[in-house]
This record gives sequence, structure tokens and C-alpha cells, in this order.
Amino acid sequence: MTKKLKILILAGDGVGPEVTAEAVRTLKTAAEVGGHDFQFRQALIGGAAILAEGTPLPQPTLEAALSSDAVLLGAVGGHEFSSLPPDRRPEAGLLGLRSALKGYANLRPSFAWPGLTGNSPLRPEVVEGADILFVRELLGGLYFGQPREWNKQANAAWNTMRYTRDEVARVAKVAFELARNRRSKVTSVDKANVLEVSQLWRATVTELAQEYPDVKLEHQYVDAMAMHLMNTPRNFDVVLTENLFGDILSDEAAVITGSLGMLPSATVGGRVNLYEPVHGSAPDIAGRGIANPLGAILTAAMLLRYSAGLHEEAQAVEAAVRQVLDDGYRTMDLARGAMSAKVLPTQEMGRRVREAMLSVRVEAPRGA
Ligand code: IPM
Ligand code: MN
Repeated sequence: MTKKLKILILAGDGVGPEVTAEAVRTLKTAAEVGGHDFQFRQALIGGAAILAEGTPLPQPTLEAALSSDAVLLGAVGGHEFSSLPPDRRPEAGLLGLRSALKGYANLRPSFAWPGLTGNSPLRPEVVEGADILFVRELLGGLYFGQPREWNKQANAAWNTMRYTRDEVARVAKVAFELARNRRSKVTSVDKANVLEVSQLWRATVTELAQEYPDVKLEHQYVDAMAMHLMNTPRNFDVVLTENLFGDILSDEAAVITGSLGMLPSATVGGRVNLYEPVHGSAPDIAGRGIANPLGAILTAAMLLRYSAGLHEEAQAVEAAVRQVLDDGYRTMDLARGAMSAKVLPTQEMGRRVREAMLSVRVEAPRGA
């Protein structure tokens, strides 16, 4: 069946435009092959929007996002904005967008691609077979809690980690549901030995688990989790976290794949799903055409899966990524041990993935 989708592209800053271009080309290829009708629009966000419009989230961008079926974002941020207060920085544009779109469950798969196990600083026998799905709460906690302030007179600053029971329950539900289609295990991360908010978190997740007797629930303190993730990454299936813990642990989990440039994400549960690679704007390599587009391309696969319901097409993208990695192709960030002839620029990597999409057979289904 033909799918019709209006997709808003927010390329953003730094390497955002370079990697997003490859994600869009991937989506166009998927649409062409399947006879789907994807319409693309573009708008400004982050530093690019500050420079052009004086604000990181211009009203037309917000309106375009709310009237789209899916939003695909590149990255925001840059050194030139580092002295601005948090509410005027490029990142504020992204946070404003997240809260307007209302997606509260940020899905961040971290997968040990077989062709890449030699790229991880962890020993291959530790990472081989690791396949984790982080479910990061995205609309609460320290990122949004009030009060928040840097009080110059008092020479003090504060943020608030706040959750309601409902905010915890709705994201936990997503984790349990997704675990059912995977290996039926949820690891809930908190700091319940110190924080009241974590005690509420743990109590809520424990209560909800009764509705999922087929799913095994375990709790981990965030500090211990940071260690277990590196020691025994294969022990984890779905990892449920509050906002900041998930931000930190999902970057740490990039070590499993060998590069932050490999990680995709999808934010679901709200009015419009938001898709963004986990990596940032990487200003040090921006504009040189060498960034890794695979995180963005895998993000496009998540869009196909969660916004278009095109599961086979999503798997075809993932299988194509697997193929090019198995063939030994790498971007700069993954170059360790690769023959220089196989280290590709951004566009060439994107092209190889599309080429592989047209030829691979979808055998081993995987994904979030
Ligand atoms: C991420 C990023 C964002 C976050 C920033 C850019 C606001 O680090 O998506 O992980 O902290 O959520
Ligand atoms: Mn982050």
C-alpha cells in the first residue's frame, strides 16, 4: 500500500546538514522502491535559526513541525553560542521542539554491528551480540523541572529533578511493550538510594511491571549501571531511564558500536514523532564532508518503521548498513584498522548504503 508522509527536515548546525542529506536520500530511495509518496519540507532550528532569525526555534519552524507527519533533525549547537544562557542557545530550540511535539519516549538502540566489533575499545568478546534499546524519558527531569535559575546575587544555581507518577508510568509502559517484542527484559535505572524522585520512579515501574508478568524487570542504580554497561553489555535488553541519566548512558553506550556517529534515535508518544541521531553537531569536522552519516541513515530507518509503518523497508536500510560495514567500508570515525581505500567521505558512504538497499535480502530482522 502506498504511504503518504509529510516530513519536515531540520538539518540544523555543524555536520547536521551533511548527514541529514544522506538520510533524506535514503528515504527517497525507499519511497521510490516502494512507490510511496514522501514530501519533504525544510526549516531552520538551532544556531542556524539564531543567525537568520535571532531565535533558536522560530514560529514558522514550530508550525511546520506540528503540521508534519514526522520531523527529521540533524544536530544543533556550536562553539560560537557557548557564552549564551541556556534558554537562548541552539539547544533550547531542540528542547522547545521536543516539548511542543510532546514525544516523551526517546528510543535509542545501541547495537554491536558485527562488522564493527573490532572498532570498539572494548574487547570483541565483550561487545559481540550486544543489542540494547534505551528508552529515555524526554520531557521531564532536570531538563524541564521548575524552579531553575542561576542566581547571580546568591552566587548559586539550581535545577529541579521532578517527575509525576503519570510521567513515569507512560514511558515505562513503552519500555515494557517494546521488551515484549525483543528479549523480554527491562532494566530500570535510577538513584533510589539517594533521590526521592528515583524512589517514585522505582515504585511506579515496579507497580506497572505487574501488568507485564512475561517481562523480567530489574533495577539498577545509575552509577553501577555505568559500569555494567561496559563490563557486560550483553546482559541488557531494554534500558529505561529518566532524561539526564539516559542522555549520559546513551553516549556511553556508543562505545559498544565504536562511534557515536552510529547511533540513531526516535521519539514517540506525542503529537508528531521526532527523529534525530544521538550525536551532536561536531563543529570540529563540520563542512568537510567526512562525518559519519550512518547514525542519520539509521534514524531514517526508524522513521520508516515508526511513522510510515514500513517495517521491511526499515529492515532493508539496516541490512544495507550491515552490508557496507561487512564489506569493510568506514567513515573517518571508524577508520581504526581499515584500509585507507575503504575510508569513505559522507556522501560516498550514503551512496553505498543506497546501492546496497537495492540489492540486499532482508534476512536477519533487527531494530528497535
Ligand atoms: C541529545 C543531546 C541533547 C540532549 C542536547 C543537544 C540538548 O545531547 O539528544 O542527547 O541533551 O538531550
Ligand atoms: Mn546527549
